Amino acid sequence: MKYDYRETTDDLLTRIDIHTKYGSRDIDRWMLDLLPLRPGMKILDVGCGAGKQCLSYHKELKGQADITGGDVNRELLDQARRASAEANANIRYIDLNFNERFPLEDGQFDLLSCCFAIYYAEDIPYTIREMHRVLKPGGTLFTTGPMRTNKQFFYDVIREATGKEIPPMPGSSRYDSEILGTIRATFSNVEIHIFENPLVFETVEPFIDYTRASLSEDRKLWSSFFQDKDDFQRIMDSITRVAEKRLEQDGKLVMTKVVGGFMATR
Ligand SMILES: C[S@@+](CC[C@H](N)C(=O)[O-])C[C@H]1O[C@@H](n2cnc3c(N)ncnc32)[C@H](O)[C@@H]1O
Repeated sequence: MKYDYRETTDDLLTRIDIHTKYGSRDIDRWMLDLLPLRPGMKILDVGCGAGKQCLSYHKELKGQADITGGDVNRELLDQARRASAEANANIRYIDLNFNERFPLEDGQFDLLSCCFAIYYAEDIPYTIREMHRVLKPGGTLFTTGPMRTNKQFFYDVIREATGKEIPPMPGSSRYDSEILGTIRATFSNVEIHIFENPLVFETVEPFIDYTRASLSEDRKLWSSFFQDKDDFQRIMDSITRVAEKRLEQDGKLVMTKVVGGFMATR
């Protein structure tokens, strides 16, 4: 029998909160400084979720842009619509499943962004071709995702605590390989920009909270590591022991988030 040992608190929120508290760099600012944003431009954000990037473009361009967000998750689209209404932002949100033909005409957008979403695509070349199709000639594609070196410390500790190989993660196992390769094959002038945000922990607790939230939120990925509540607790106990040992050796725990921003021209 499988137990539902999801925490009552929202695991994703726990992780976001730990990023804000223990990291010092702001990924939204990094993106805004990189992107060729100009007033009057037409922007599409694919996998827009609750509208974080759309709202950030709107604010940066002081409302002087035509912005569309697309996602497959209607609940998130509703959240995005509510947040945009509250911010008085005129942003269009559409149903868009990137495994299917985008419900959009060819050659419309100056900028297409896809943040922390492209690696959920079933057929990467197909999705990248759709992105290419809806961009104007000379338009910019920008994607973000985890590089292979992302959170090395986190995986090292889990490997040491369990003696097991880490299962392939949907993002970091193919973002800087298959996905980058496909962008290079489809677009010209592909640039790689790296965002590093070291999360520095002076005690083991926030690292353990982060790990607990990660393993429990993504528990399908970790099914070879634990089946039930007792397994989960056993693994968390041995991870805690390894983290305590590392803290004693190094005086602090540093887990660095490494995000790649791929910028390409159609
Ligand atoms: C990690 S979230 C990122 C959301 C947002 N870009 C952000 O950075 O806050 C991944 C997003 O990809 C979306 N997604 C997953 N599969 C998708 C698909 N087939 N078509 C469109 N969006 C998809 C999810 O619904 C989710 O909103």
